[in-house]
Amino acid sequence: MSRAETGARVIVLGALSAIAEATARLHAAEGARFILAGRDETRLGQVAADLEARGAASCLCRSLDLAAAADSYAAFDEMVEALGGVDYVYLFYGLLGDQDAAERDLAAARDIVRVNFSSAAEWCLAAARRLQAQGSGVLLVASSVAGDRGRQSKPLYGAAKSGLTVLVQGLAHRLAPSGARAVAVKIGFVDTPMTAGSAKGGPLWVTPEQIAPKLRRFADGKRPVVYAPWFWRWIMLVIRLVPAPIFHRTKL
Ligand SMILES: NC(=O)c1ccc[n+]([C@@H]2O[C@H](COP(=O)([O-])OP(=O)(O)OC[C@H]3O[C@@H](n4cnc5c(N)ncnc54)[C@H](OP(=O)(O)O)[C@@H]3O)[C@@H](O)[C@H]2O)c1
Repeated sequence: MSRAETGARVIVLGALSAIAEATARLHAAEGARFILAGRDETRLGQVAADLEARGAASCLCRSLDLAAAADSYAAFDEMVEALGGVDYVYLFYGLLGDQDAAERDLAAARDIVRVNFSSAAEWCLAAARRLQAQGSGVLLVASSVAGDRGRQSKPLYGAAKSGLTVLVQGLAHRLAPSGARAVAVKIGFVDTPMTAGSAKGGPLWVTPEQIAPKLRRFADGKRPVVYAPWFWRWIMLVIRLVPAPIFHRTKL
């Protein structure tokens, strides 16, 4: 059989994210077949061409606002049919948002919750339903260490990512008997367009190319909730243990 028939079938929801692109390149080198979903048709075409140059057997693009799908179940089913099944589903899209704007304008607040949680939850449910039915495959979701403890600077983003982690953890529990899996990755600081407004540098920051192999490995692993890089597990343990009277004196 040719590579076009044997390569893993990969759906990337939020294929234009920097971390998504770096992760997809690893699958491309293995001859994967892709559905790439994102908002910008032109950029999707560019990512598809890059992945094909790196070894992808095929790339189909779906240009859509993932936070505004009328029916995520139907849209997801269409993607799976187009691929003839699915082995890996990655959910990468997200919105850090502006907390100050969200305090002034509830529409901005709603957007943070809708992009990071409500719409993502619908795609996760759609993916889990298909994976459970076929009894194989994995859903890997980009969550965040921000969901481990509420902080004054990003309470909405943190809450949405916290909810997303718990949702994926619950889906992993539900999928376990079927042979399919779900993984929430609590990602730390990555130098991408999303963090353009942050002061970067130092040992806690990594590049998309550094985090991608870890995500690729977690997709084939057994753990339903993981930190990437690993040291965030211990950093967040300490942060969670700081007593509130002390924590409230920080500007985190
Ligand atoms: N970077 C970090 O430090 C960090 C830390 C923890 C977790 N994460 C998570 O990792 C994931 C990937 O982020 P990244 O760092 O790679 O950032 P990024 O390069 O800025 O990617 C975010 C992507 O989400 C897409 N997106 C947002 N709303 C969308 C919508 N409604 N429909 C379709 N696409 C939409 C954006 O598309 P457009 O280009 O069209 O705007 C963008 O491509 C996110 O879920 C993020 O929360 C990142």
